[in-house]
Amino acid sequence: MTSTSWTKKYQPKHLSEIKGQELAIEELKNFIEKFKESETDKKSVILYGPPGTGKTTLAYVMANESNFEIFELNASDLRGGEKLREVLAPAIEQKSLTKKGKFLLIDEVDGISEADRGGLSELLRIIEFTSQLVIITANDIWNKKFSELRKKSEIIPLKEIDSKTIKNALIEILRKEKKFLKEDILTNITIKAKGDIRAAINDLQVASSLSDPSEIFIDERNKEIDIFNVLRIILKEKSDNSLLNLFDSVNKPMDEILLWIEENIPQDYNPEELARAYELLSKADIFRNRVYKQQYWRFLVYSNAFLSYGISSSKKSEKIGFTNYKKPTRILKMWMNNQKIEKKKSIAEKYANYVHVGKKRALKEFPMIKQFLLKSQVQKELRLTEEEINYLNNSA
Ligand SMILES: Nc1ncnc2c1ncn2[C@@H]1O[C@H](COP(=O)(O)OP(=O)(O)OP(=O)(O)O)[C@@H](O)[C@H]1O
Ligand SMILES: [Mg+2]
Repeated sequence: MTSTSWTKKYQPKHLSEIKGQELAIEELKNFIEKFKESETDKKSVILYGPPGTGKTTLAYVMANESNFEIFELNASDLRGGEKLREVLAPAIEQKSLTKKGKFLLIDEVDGISEADRGGLSELLRIIEFTSQLVIITANDIWNKKFSELRKKSEIIPLKEIDSKTIKNALIEILRKEKKFLKEDILTNITIKAKGDIRAAINDLQVASSLSDPSEIFIDERNKEIDIFNVLRIILKEKSDNSLLNLFDSVNKPMDEILLWIEENIPQDYNPEELARAYELLSKADIFRNRVYKQQYWRFLVYSNAFLSYGISSSKKSEKIGFTNYKKPTRILKMWMNNQKIEKKKSIAEKYANYVHVGKKRALKEFPMIKQFLLKSQVQKELRLTEEEINYLNNSA
């Protein structure tokens, strides 16, 4: 497998390599010129736009080309208060020490959450007393908490990258990598990216590493069997060995599948069959608990076998007709709530380990750090699982 990511390898080093943002580049140049000549009262500029369109890149490349150094502050630095001033003081008075001026970069300012007003007002104070240019990047700055910041700042939008530009960029990278992909794959990657050139480059790298590049387009959903089909197969059809692998292709955690089965057995089974099925269900449950308690994964196999083949073969004959299977309500709710708490705990723990704070504190400050955790780069860095990411995206 390749070791470096192509987005890093082909990160623009010069303004001319930043694609599709000519207007923003021009506007930023003009603003910096005005700032240098003291022709503007503003000391901050906000680069905002969709993910993966070059905001952070533009800040760095522009600094480099205009011979400035970047001094980056993140949301948690801003929260620092006193510490921040300490860090900033030399940066602000640096002018006399080295010839190079500095840009203060606040990358992804939308990471500062509602609960974190302190950081935002600190940022406004910095802008007030610094003599350096402050560059701020954001996906969205139209929240009213940013209204003061918007007033003080020059605002420069970065656009989604149009598909032709993306496609050309992909072709250029393939040429440099001496790799080849079919035209329709390139087109599909481009469409899927929806203006996010970083996403397109990442997909390109994955696709060109696959023996069948078209695999990256297989929609996850096509591979899944939905839970209603699973119930029908178990509760109605004749049992056979393929049942043992049935749950592999269901996009639901086993505990939830168990609840669905439990809820719906009575709809299809007569009392005698029901008794046998319930017995197996409780066995499956026991083995699942042993898996958790003893970490003995082999028990999962037994548990799944009871649930699939076992319950299926508890019926005397095949069932015909349509059953309107129901969603398990009460227990499922309890179970899902538990899952949520577990997710929150596991996310907080990863975060705590990463930034070296206590797990308890991370949990307490969860609403605050959540904004920051919504960033896909952060999620990658913390190695959040897909389920943890879903939890973040779906919790209010
Ligand atoms: N306009 C562009 N031209 C060429 N490459 C780009 C462009 N925008 C992004 N990229 C590629 O995507 C990578 C990530 O870009 P960057 O970090 O600047 O995006 P961003 O707009 O800051 O995204 P986010 O909103 O997630 O912070 C770059 O390293 C580069 O490989
Ligand atoms: Mg960025």
